[in-house]
Amino acid sequence: SLSTLVIVMQVLVIGSGGREHALAWKAAQDNDVENVYVSPGNAGTALEEKVQNIEIDINDFAAIENFCVTKKIGLVIIGPEKPLVDGLSDFLQSKGIKTFGPSQAAAQLEGSKTFSKDFFIKYGIPTAGYSSFDDFETAKAHLEVIDYPTVVKADGLAAGKGVIICGNKDEASEALKNIFQDQAFGEAGNRVVIEDFLKGEEASFIAVVSKDKIVPLATSQDHKAVGEGDVGLNTGGMGAYSPAPIVDARMHQKILDEVMEPTMKGLINEGSPYLGFLYAGVMIYNGELKVLEFNCRFGDPETQPILLRLKSSLVQLCLYAIDDKLELYESEWDKRHSCGVVIASEGYPEKYLSNQEVELQELQSDTMKLFHAGTTLENNKVMTSGGRVFCATALGANLKEAQTAAYTLVHSVSFNGAFCRTDIGYKGIK
Ligand code: AMP
Ligand code: GLY
Repeated sequence: SLSTLVIVMQVLVIGSGGREHALAWKAAQDNDVENVYVSPGNAGTALEEKVQNIEIDINDFAAIENFCVTKKIGLVIIGPEKPLVDGLSDFLQSKGIKTFGPSQAAAQLEGSKTFSKDFFIKYGIPTAGYSSFDDFETAKAHLEVIDYPTVVKADGLAAGKGVIICGNKDEASEALKNIFQDQAFGEAGNRVVIEDFLKGEEASFIAVVSKDKIVPLATSQDHKAVGEGDVGLNTGGMGAYSPAPIVDARMHQKILDEVMEPTMKGLINEGSPYLGFLYAGVMIYNGELKVLEFNCRFGDPETQPILLRLKSSLVQLCLYAIDDKLELYESEWDKRHSCGVVIASEGYPEKYLSNQEVELQELQSDTMKLFHAGTTLENNKVMTSGGRVFCATALGANLKEAQTAAYTLVHSVSFNGAFCRTDIGYKGIK
């Protein structure tokens, strides 16, 4: 019988952010999992039980394959969008390595705004009106015929920073100049999407999708702007919480019916069935919704509060998805709320301070977890190495209690130039 069979699994997580720390931490909790390797990882993964960092060049697919074969890796989870858009999942799968993450073709949902917008139209998925341009003059002429505010987006991957909300024609013109002429986002800006500005409240709807099956994860919301009250520059996300009160049962069903199902079917129709985390950023207004964007991966920082609430196995979820048996997975969620507060480095999301020594008090408990993001371990010291450095994540009976606990955990961390938003979760508490 199965119980006499000792299964020892080796897992490889690709990436180095807070999301990857959370994925590795959760995977390591499985009794069946012997080792979780993270490439390249951060100080948090280096210090985690059963978890170890390894240095492999993420662009060297053959080296990753080689590692997987040598270590008998039974599951690869790819965290960030870049290797997915570069085709790492296709490559590893073609070598017979169990890999959780969409194909290069399916990852175009995030890799190209034009691709995703055209896809939404083709499959009747609600989204903001838009036009797409590949030269400055034509795009600039378009500014004469639209309403303001408007939204200018670089077509390709820009680490969450390629979206500029423009209050008037001059700002929009400046944004086009930045993207096309000054190449602020490099090749990602060879094309630009100009789309209607949408009012409302955003939510992150993240599911595991495998071909024609969907397992929705707990709902969440993040705070993208750097400043309190959601003002200032957009970042990768300054904090998140789960569940998202705005996604009630009706809205949940609506997102499944109007967004996730048609996307899953559309991808099958296009010959690129999905496998992996699929993240729809939606704008909700007056009970209606529109899709802002798709991501072909788990959100960061949404992963951290969501995984703190996941009681069932992450590894099993990924394996069932890969083996086309997703219907067998029974997800179990902690009823409590969770809140994650990002601690960032002075200057982020622009040029930021780095290489500062971190002082940490041990404050971890069953209901709190300090996830690392931009940290490295040097001579047993935790040093800062990124814009977003930690995500202090905690559970509570309600969002307010989760928020209070998360800020208690924030205070256990100190380094030069550390800052966080003091209002993470307010939209869900109000
Ligand atoms: P995206 O990467 O397309 O999701 O854009 C990043 C962020 O910019 C979103 O999370 C929104 O906060 C904002 N945004 C993007 N598109 C729009 C839009 N059409 N209307 C209003 N805000 C938007
Ligand atoms: N937190 C938003 C994202 O992961 O893109």
